[in-house]
Amino acid sequence: MRGKLALRVGLVILAVDKQMSRFFVGVSADSLRKLRQHVVDQLCEASGGPCYYFGRSMKTVHAGLGITESDWQITVKHLTATMDKFKVPDKERNEILTLFASLKSDIVEKS
Ligand code: HEM
Repeated sequence: MRGKLALRVGLVILAVDKQMSRFFVGVSADSLRKLRQHVVDQLCEASGGPCYYFGRSMKTVHAGLGITESDWQITVKHLTATMDKFKVPDKERNEILTLFASLKSDIVEKS
């Protein structure tokens, strides 16, 4: 539960980060909500359910965005800082970090 809350907050922080905001220019509040829900569903499914992820594959959805290693590092930094803030327990923290790590090669295009 805390993990999900942290993820929601983390995504909001990401949208206002100076380097990262370029990815969210012109995206409506409702589309951001949809994106956030997709990520929550994916995480929920990966950690045993009962949710299902109905979104597109990570490779398809991020192709062409030009996400760099530096963007990735910033994302992980915000994620861990937000999980610290919400005192996410180690088990959930590790599940989230493991999921992120497993998706990296489908998301990052440039080094
Ligand atoms: C540097 C890191 C990332 C950036 C800059 C980024 C950026 C974006 C952007 C701009 C979109 C919208 C694309 C579109 O609808 O045309 C998107 C979609 C999405 N991203 Fe990411 N993303 C990142 C990492 C991640 C990670 C780590 C996850 C999973 C934990 C994730 C999950 C998703 C999902 C589920 C969608 C929507 C899928 C769908 O609409 O079917 N992203 N991302």
